Amino acid sequence: MPVISVPQAFNEEDLYVDLASMSGHRLFLKCEGFNFAGSIKLKAATEMVESAERSGTLKRDSILVESSSGNLGVALSMIAASKGHRFVCVTDSRCNLTTRLMMEALGSQVHVVSDEGAAGGLLGARLAYVRGLCASDDRHVWLSQYTNDDNWKAHYFRTAPAIARRFPRLDVLFIGVGTTGTLMGCARWFRSWHRPVRIVAVDSVGSAIFGDPPGRRMIPGLGMSVRPPLLDEEYVDEVVRVEETDTIRTCRSLARRGFLFGGSTGTVVSGATSWLARHDTRGLTPVAIAPDLGERYLDTVYQTNWVQGVYGDEALAPQGPPRRGVSAS
Ligand SMILES: Cc1ncc(COP(=O)(O)O)c(C=O)c1O
Repeated sequence: MPVISVPQAFNEEDLYVDLASMSGHRLFLKCEGFNFAGSIKLKAATEMVESAERSGTLKRDSILVESSSGNLGVALSMIAASKGHRFVCVTDSRCNLTTRLMMEALGSQVHVVSDEGAAGGLLGARLAYVRGLCASDDRHVWLSQYTNDDNWKAHYFRTAPAIARRFPRLDVLFIGVGTTGTLMGCARWFRSWHRPVRIVAVDSVGSAIFGDPPGRRMIPGLGMSVRPPLLDEEYVDEVVRVEETDTIRTCRSLARRGFLFGGSTGTVVSGATSWLARHDTRGLTPVAIAPDLGERYLDTVYQTNWVQGVYGDEALAPQGPPRRGVSAS
């Protein structure tokens, strides 16, 4: 039983859900939402802040600033509060109300941009605001999750070795993509492992990460409207793209089994399940990374009126029976 004195010291690293009965395939879901920040973003936030402290970039009077669709913002709010730093989170109108309120409760200042017409979309508008803050006062320290190598190193040092310890015969790893920190850290680590691992990136339709034109995306978390600077496609074996309606159906179907996961997790599970349905899965050990939990999506993904209004009734249609490729062993 861990006893801690700072919130970032606790992170459940060894919890997996066996989805065989729910997805119809052997599939282990690594749950990354069980920490005080509620998502996998705690790891990137901790690594980036502690590295900036070690290098002297982050000083006592510094003001942390970051662009985030929400989850990194919550993690940084928590760490900033714990370490006594000020933090300004620049987010956009897709950020869930609960997420914004959490950041404010932790003492952060939240700035919401909503200018969709700006060059580079909402992300471009967020980055322009961050640059403006940094230019206005040199106490601002921008960790820049999109370009910061400590983002992927967090997963190289922690996430990938933890999966390898638990699944020494891992064959396929499904990883959702945003900044691609999780993807690049895990892909680099498994590249030099004792056996080959197929790295499957799971992205949302409407994301421009792998070169598609950007389109409408309403669920925050995965996906990006530009190509992420951290991405090196040479490490990626395959990309699966998931419609937001499939994300919603998957989240709601997992919730009916008592597992209230977040939108990013619904996307990864949907992508992994569709990949497994197209492949011969005999003897295969597949793991998917679940980055978040469901509370922050109660007013969107789990809100029937919101889903009907945005996607129509089709998104509420129950998922068909699980497709059985090869039974779980
Ligand atoms: C909940 C959640 N999961 C996953 C991701 C994407 O992870 P990464 O930025 O490491 O690609 C994000 C990105 O913001 C996120 O908020």
